[in-house]
Amino acid sequence: MYKVKVLGAGSIGNHLSNASRFLGWEVHLCDVDAAALERTRESIYPARYGKWDEAIQLHRCDQAPRGGFDFIFIGTPPDSHMKLALAALEEKPRALLIEKPLCTPGLEHAQELVDRAKAQGTLVMVGYDHVVGMASVGVEDELKQGGLGPIETIDVEFREHWGGIFGAHPWLAGPHDSYLGYWQRGGAASGEHSHAANLWQHFAHLVGAGRVTEVSAAMSFVRDGTVDYDKICALHLTTESGLMGRVVQDVVTQPPRKWGRIQGRDGHVEWHCGYKPGVDAVLSKRGPAETGERLFQKTRPQDFIQELRHFQHHVEANRADSPLALERGLDTMMVVAAAHKSAAEKRTVRIDLAAGYSPEALQ
Ligand SMILES: NC(=O)c1ccc[n+]([C@@H]2O[C@H](COP(=O)([O-])OP(=O)(O)OC[C@H]3O[C@@H](n4cnc5c(N)ncnc54)[C@H](O)[C@@H]3O)[C@@H](O)[C@H]2O)c1
Repeated sequence: MYKVKVLGAGSIGNHLSNASRFLGWEVHLCDVDAAALERTRESIYPARYGKWDEAIQLHRCDQAPRGGFDFIFIGTPPDSHMKLALAALEEKPRALLIEKPLCTPGLEHAQELVDRAKAQGTLVMVGYDHVVGMASVGVEDELKQGGLGPIETIDVEFREHWGGIFGAHPWLAGPHDSYLGYWQRGGAASGEHSHAANLWQHFAHLVGAGRVTEVSAAMSFVRDGTVDYDKICALHLTTESGLMGRVVQDVVTQPPRKWGRIQGRDGHVEWHCGYKPGVDAVLSKRGPAETGERLFQKTRPQDFIQELRHFQHHVEANRADSPLALERGLDTMMVVAAAHKSAAEKRTVRIDLAAGYSPEALQ
């Protein structure tokens, strides 16, 4: 049985704890805030999963055990991820899972984390769970079947009104009450919905187009003296191979639209999250053939079980070639950071792939 420490007893910390327990692992869930631990036991966990699980051990961070964990999961606000990850490496777990977005657009400690994880041989993954979800695997199958012709472009949108997020966090009064209302802290449409950029990059890898090298962004900000967040983040991306496509992330669209399309000369594949209630889908069309429809029934808790199974498999096989790999999460942060530079300077920003994960790589 694996022994897991989960940092952050909020929305994601509960999902990861529940998925870990489903897999039979020993869970120690930690938070700096005693009220968050209380809320987990009394309301979040029972409301989501039916009842509190007495086997989960709750700890205030200053009293939490250190060392002896197989895995450490970091499910705290983005601006705390890097420091916690560097400290977690000192505990020498077999692997770390850090939530998305991996860091802030300032990219502080990004290269240091890669270097230290590599030096000590610790596998680090980033929680962009959609890329290992059933529908993404379905897209991969469709691409393997071929028949789309050369790929012309890729589009991905994660457009979801704040309401969905605050519905999952009833204890928050609004965007000002957490990192969500501040783009520099890793919130806002650009950070919170960076699943879209990450999925776009995953699809680009699947079609052999390589990494993103150019970002051109338009953003719409809300700045009222308290909050400072982009509510719409629209990106044009170009990869190493010259493939061009588009990403839109926003916190205003309702009902939400989480969708992607890989468009070939002779056909296309579409990825849909929430195609119908509780159902994701992959649609495909080749030439004059009927549109194919593959449906994937699942719940949100199952997404995280699927993610942790993938994580476990890669740890046991000692494989770093995952779409959740640290470098993939960092590549997404480079796009988010480049997007802010592009929007501020009203120009296309190039990412120098040889310059490491730092602001200096953005030109
Ligand atoms: N993969 C997904 O689909 C998904 C879903 C939800 C959240 N997330 C990500 O997870 C992260 C957390 O989001 P959330 O919605 O769970 O936030 P949340 O506000 O619900 O919970 C965060 C918790 O972390 C605690 N915390 C803050 N600093 C800490 C520290 N230094 N050590 C330990 N605990 C600390 C807070 O007290 C709070 O209880 C974010 O990066 C978010 O983007 C990912």
